Amino acid sequence: MTRTACFPFTILLLVMAAGCNSTTPTAPSARPSKEFRTVVELTPAQQQQKQAAIAAKDKLFAALFAELTSSMAEDGPAKSIEVCKSRAPELARAVSEESGVQIGRTSFQLRNPENRPPNWAVDFVQDRIAEPQHVALPDDGLGVLLPIPLKDTCLQCHGNDEQILPEVKDAILALYPGDAATDFAEGDLRGYFWVEVPRQ
Ligand code: HEC
Repeated sequence: MTRTACFPFTILLLVMAAGCNSTTPTAPSARPSKEFRTVVELTPAQQQQKQAAIAAKDKLFAALFAELTSSMAEDGPAKSIEVCKSRAPELARAVSEESGVQIGRTSFQLRNPENRPPNWAVDFVQDRIAEPQHVALPDDGLGVLLPIPLKDTCLQCHGNDEQILPEVKDAILALYPGDAATDFAEGDLRGYFWVEVPRQ
């Protein structure tokens, strides 16, 4: 997946590493996105980008939630894991194409390690920031990070051992052996939608 923030960031790291003298360790920073600060006052153009990000998020959320709810009702949670596994990235790709943005889901406690945040969002995600964030990206792009609160329907797959059925737990662990996305409670911050909106 191409992420507009990656390339300039790599250059920055190389420049930083080259600038280090021999007494300082040359290991790159583990928390790169301190470079990315939230925009406090959005320009009119950024306001438009923000609206585009929210519209894309609403679309993806509605599509995911509709498929998940009907699948949970018809097939139960163990079979619905498939919706999250294959339909979530498909729907994200479809919304990205339709809306002309890049969109995905991420968290500080990941189930799928491929859902790690884009560089510009890493710190906000690690710090579990509960407010939406807006970050200026290269070429006048805007990165928007939108928190996702946990609902009670999510508990059957993201709750504690009493809320997740053993067969569901087994199905999750078979697909995601390193799963860290459990023990959430209703109302907790579960993770984020991240959206990258190019110049409009
Ligand atoms: C049927 C089980 C199931 C239910 C119910 C469920 N999820 Fe998930 N969730 C998953 C699976 C499986 C993944 C990994 C998807 C992937 O491979 O991208 C996932 C991934 C996620 C992610 C992406 C970050 C990560 O950990 O990989 C978020 C955010 C998320 N779920 C939020 C929610 C929310 C919010 C709800 C309730 C509205 C919910 N989920 C309900 C199974 C479920």
